[in-house]
Amino acid sequence: MRSHYCGQLSAALIDREVELCGWVHRRRDHGGVIFIDLRDREGIAQVVFNPEHPVPFEAANALRNEFVVRVRGRVRHRPEGTVNPDLPTGEVEVVGAHIEVLNPARTPPFQLDDENLNDDLRLRYRYVDLRRPVMQENLRLRSRITRILREFMDRHGFLEIETPILTKATPEGARDYLVPSRTHPGHFFALPQSPQLFKQLLMMSGMDRYYQIARCFRDEDLRADRQPEFTQLDIEVSFMDEAAITDLMEDMIRHLFREAIGVELPARFPRITHEEAVRRFGTDRPDLRNPLEFVEIADLVREVNFKVFARPASMANGRVAAMRLPGGGELPRSVVDSYEEFVKQHGAKGLAYIKVNEIRDGRDGLQSPILKFLPDDVIQAVLKRVGAQTGDLVFFGADKRKVVNDSLGALRNKIAHDLNLLRGEWELLWVEDFPMFEYNEEEKRWDPMHHPFTAPRVAMPAQLTADPGGCLSRAYDLVLNGIELGGGSVRIHRPEMQKAVFQLLGISEQDAEEKFGFLISALDFGCPPHGGIAFGLDRLVMLMAGMHSIRDVIAFPKTQTASCLLTSAPSPASATQLKELGIRVATPAKPK
Ligand code: AMO
Ligand code: AMP
Repeated sequence: MRSHYCGQLSAALIDREVELCGWVHRRRDHGGVIFIDLRDREGIAQVVFNPEHPVPFEAANALRNEFVVRVRGRVRHRPEGTVNPDLPTGEVEVVGAHIEVLNPARTPPFQLDDENLNDDLRLRYRYVDLRRPVMQENLRLRSRITRILREFMDRHGFLEIETPILTKATPEGARDYLVPSRTHPGHFFALPQSPQLFKQLLMMSGMDRYYQIARCFRDEDLRADRQPEFTQLDIEVSFMDEAAITDLMEDMIRHLFREAIGVELPARFPRITHEEAVRRFGTDRPDLRNPLEFVEIADLVREVNFKVFARPASMANGRVAAMRLPGGGELPRSVVDSYEEFVKQHGAKGLAYIKVNEIRDGRDGLQSPILKFLPDDVIQAVLKRVGAQTGDLVFFGADKRKVVNDSLGALRNKIAHDLNLLRGEWELLWVEDFPMFEYNEEEKRWDPMHHPFTAPRVAMPAQLTADPGGCLSRAYDLVLNGIELGGGSVRIHRPEMQKAVFQLLGISEQDAEEKFGFLISALDFGCPPHGGIAFGLDRLVMLMAGMHSIRDVIAFPKTQTASCLLTSAPSPASATQLKELGIRVATPAKPK
């Protein structure tokens, strides 16, 4: 139906007759001449209609935004002074000779170039939202990224293998989405939280190198980088250790950035331990573009008469940390107060600070609500340790370790954002040496830090049981600009160790057999050492596209409450369907 895409027009086509198809992006009436901006996937072209040719002119006059039309006409250079350097096709225009309305359109629910679009409207009319050039660009980039990744995997001998969507629970720390079985009333499939168990089984099948662009389902609290259904680049290999796996993945990410967006990443990504990440930044996914760091001061304030500091300083799970903000002395009091409110929203009880007007002996030149509680030598030791200079502001967090890390960590991000402190564009790092388990205070039990199939650093089950809290795992995460891009590990490949881990996690032998019997049994039939990783594809595309939410790189995403405004899913099932499935609903939902 067309000879060219709108976005393909250029001076090379001058005097040629072209046929274009697309949407009316804008119609302008310039004193007797009508200009149509015609838009398709590749861009926008200007078509001019003159009253000298009354038939197409009248037709153009009747056009409205988002009508779908086909236009024929001759390409010409735009008249002197009307060339638009901002538009790739801005040097030329088409003199419209013929116009055919393929389909009229109702007034769109929003203007495509509106800066402040309503999120709900965007999702309800997603097909209109996706016409916006930025969304088109995002989905094209996504397609380019998956193509480059597939080519890389293929070149490195990986087989793309699909795994079931209707399956058994796969524990990744979220709730499962369940699907009732009609043929087995009262029984349910779970949608996979990841292909974890199947990819391990594929290693036991001798596939050696597996990958999949895999859809995963997790019923968890949503936020800007979390969707209930999302996509992983999922990878597993045999006979490779963590050094070999992370090296290969680094090569892949470097290759991807170069090919997809022309960015050259460093020859080696930094690696830090989990312990160091939490100590310096309060989080295991630090944003290294942010120069602010925590400094431990518990040992300096353990003996002081200020309980707010002294108590957590001597608690086993307490922490007292300082964070120096260079030049922060200039912050108005109101801003400092608003930061105190901010950390309180993140669980802290307060935000002590010292303002360093001038470095002198003792407490002269300092301003702070906590000076009166601290002896001179302690104040001096603290300032020395954080490297305080004239003009600085030093913040303090004192509480349970988790509270300090979460609240001061959130403040660290906020300040960098408020004061524009981020430097560098792409800060990648590997976080390694994760603890095997973390203690769940509420449930009084050990939880896996990664998932229960991750191998510990120790070789014998007895070493694990002796000190679960001190045992490190063979897991690794890749972090980009403060966002966890991917995570993986070397896996347990011996049944005794797998059983020991289940036992430590409080999974009874019977439960383990019911849930993971097939895995334990497979470990017994010749299992190679193996490991892998999964990258959040949506997050990767989001970051590479410069977006702030993964919704902007998913064609049909869900809302914050896990519903689809376009199709109105989820929706009630009919009584007949429910009966067939053997499901009785206490109070059937009313159809919306
Ligand atoms: P993990 O649970 O760390 O590991 O997930 C891997 C990566 O998937 C992305 N991700 C998400 N993206 C969007 N929305 C979500 N709800 C969401 N949850 C996770 C993150 C994360 O780093 N089976 C293991 C991998 C392995 O061990 O090989 C796993 O799924 O970017
Ligand atoms: P208070 O004795 O409660 O008046 O606190 C004195 C100062 O210490 C105030 O500036 C509080 O904001 C701060 N503060 C109180 N609790 C904490 C805490 N857990 N961590 C850091 N600062 C705190």
